[in-house]
Amino acid sequence: MGLATPDDAGVFRLNDQTALIQTLDFLTPVTDDPYEFGQIAAANSLSDVYAMGGTPLTVMNIVCFPSCDLPEDVLARTLKGGQDKINEAGAVLVGGHSVDDPQFKYGLSVTGIVHPDKVLTNSTARVGDAIILTKPIGTGIMSTAIKAGLAEVSHIREAVAVMSCLNRYAAELMARFSVNACTDVTGFGLAGHLMEMAKGAKKQITLYSQKVPLLENVFAFAQMGLVPAGAHKNRAFFKDLTRISPALPLALVDLMFDPQTSGGLLISLKTEDAPFCVAQMEKIGINARVIGEVTKENSTGFLDII
Ligand code: CO
Ligand code: CO
Ligand code: CO
Repeated sequence: MGLATPDDAGVFRLNDQTALIQTLDFLTPVTDDPYEFGQIAAANSLSDVYAMGGTPLTVMNIVCFPSCDLPEDVLARTLKGGQDKINEAGAVLVGGHSVDDPQFKYGLSVTGIVHPDKVLTNSTARVGDAIILTKPIGTGIMSTAIKAGLAEVSHIREAVAVMSCLNRYAAELMARFSVNACTDVTGFGLAGHLMEMAKGAKKQITLYSQKVPLLENVFAFAQMGLVPAGAHKNRAFFKDLTRISPALPLALVDLMFDPQTSGGLLISLKTEDAPFCVAQMEKIGINARVIGEVTKENSTGFLDII
């Protein structure tokens, strides 16, 4: 796969049975706890392989660490968090690289495999598909609330649990269905990544904003204006190709564009398969919902937020 339509990862066919998936992601700390940050950064990096329909095989650590400003055990605990998620993914750490840097950053370079016929792209949604989201949203707004000292411990615990949850389990259930397109929700926000799906497939997608699962209290935080700059940037960036129903509360619109760290999968599959797929996911504790629909052809791609 080339760079013509931007996707979650690069794919290179080795032979008729196997293609390599390669991806790289790193983050600045999103929590005060180094172990949790390591888990979240690793789950986030591994996610792009799952979004392509693949299985992660090997990973390498990428570390930028301010060795003068932070104690060494912060790095050790971060790497332990990452290692635990790598183990949970069934992948193998084979190396990495670290540099001294004023801003702490951590992530993984991940190599996965997939059968060349089973690659899931973000640009092949079909008219008549339903779109399933597999994690609640609002982590950007929650981070802003945490920085402002307004989030309660239970809010933080939920956000950390959601961000550190591997998309492996949703991906394994998804593989039992005939999925037309998939991506994961990260920096562009839910609406931005849906827009990418719409553009790539030249389709119109309707987003049912009221059906989107939200982290607890993020709606109230958004109403208080605790919205990261990235959400406004996302909304402005996609504005020519989106219609936002004027009836929607501004806080809900902000949430649709809120940049996510380690968000869920967006799965486009036949509408008639969607309820069973959601039910299977709910059975193992995944907060999955149908949040959208691919309604018609559209030469530029279009997102209707209602
Ligand atoms: Co991605
Ligand atoms: Co990525
Ligand atoms: Co090196």
